[in-house]
Amino acid sequence: MSAFKDNLLVGKTAFVAGGTSGINLGIAKRFAELGAKVAVLGRNPEKAANAAAEIGQGALGLTADVRDYAAIRGAMEHAAGEMGALDIVISGAAGNFLAPALGMSANAFRTVVDIDLNGTFNVFRGCYDLLARPGASLIAITAGQAVNASPLQIHACAAKAGINQVIRVLAMEWGPEVRVNGISPGPIAGTEGMSRLAPGASADGGHQERIPLKRWGRIDEVAEAAVFLCSSSASYVTGTILDCDGGSQLGDASRRDLTRGMA
Ligand code: NAP
Ligand code: COA
Repeated sequence: MSAFKDNLLVGKTAFVAGGTSGINLGIAKRFAELGAKVAVLGRNPEKAANAAAEIGQGALGLTADVRDYAAIRGAMEHAAGEMGALDIVISGAAGNFLAPALGMSANAFRTVVDIDLNGTFNVFRGCYDLLARPGASLIAITAGQAVNASPLQIHACAAKAGINQVIRVLAMEWGPEVRVNGISPGPIAGTEGMSRLAPGASADGGHQERIPLKRWGRIDEVAEAAVFLCSSSASYVTGTILDCDGGSQLGDASRRDLTRGMA
């Protein structure tokens, strides 16, 4: 159940890089439901067109690779030209796969860093003069791997750690006109990320037992966190990473069960 009013984002424009599927598409849909004009971007034109149709309300489905600064800049100019200055920009495009460091080529490592980290720099650097200032809100989608080392994830750990610092540095450089924050989702059911990183996990209650809130997250829960961060309710919030992860990053909550009956 959302605490936000249906017209919260009327008059706002939102650009969602990586918004053509999964969590970011959920965020884009929620922005549109709350009245924002929305553009989503991915590499695949069919996915982009389908996502725009699913969002409805005249949403734009754009195509560019976030690794290509000129292309992403062109897409954002297009969106701002059609919809007006950008109030909200989400950088959520990411690539991932499980592989040990010794099973990863230099190009494999570079590819994920290039999409996640360099892509986030490109999206944020490229949007600055297209933003509605003051008041614009930027959100990067990071992950727990930014702070917790994770085997088979050296590329994503390095890339997401870098994203956390991009968030903090830009919050310092671009305040007070622009707020810059991050969201760190936990394991979110039904997403590409979950199927790549925890294949078969949806049937395994053991994983969920380790999460303090004892379940996978939902896309709509991450979308609500995004709405909060770009709303006036978060007007004094910048440079923060909002964990939307059921407490996953705190550690293994199943250990509490060892002490049941002791206190
Ligand atoms: P997803 O469905 O695979 O979404 C990735 C999006 O990024 C798609 O729109 C994809 O479209 C686009 N994309 C990928 N590479 C791109 C590139 N080079 N240039 C432009 N667009 C590109 O992923 P998801 O699982 O929902 O994850 C979304 C975000 O949440 C990611 O940042 C991920 O790291 C983060 N996250 C996810 C989870 C989880 O449980 N799923 C947990 C923690 C953090 P195209 O393929 O058409 O390019
Ligand atoms: N294990 C080891 N290396 C892998 C790999 C795997 N599972 N998958 C890809 N690679 C390597 C490739 O072999 C290649 O390295 P090489 O040139 O030395 O052989 C390198 O990674 C780049 O692969 P390529 O397929 O050319 O990259 P791409 O730019 O077309 O796609 C990916 C990027 C690999 C990240 C792809 O999985 C993707 O597009 N992902 C987006 C969706 C996603 O991951 N969503 C989840 C977000 S959490």
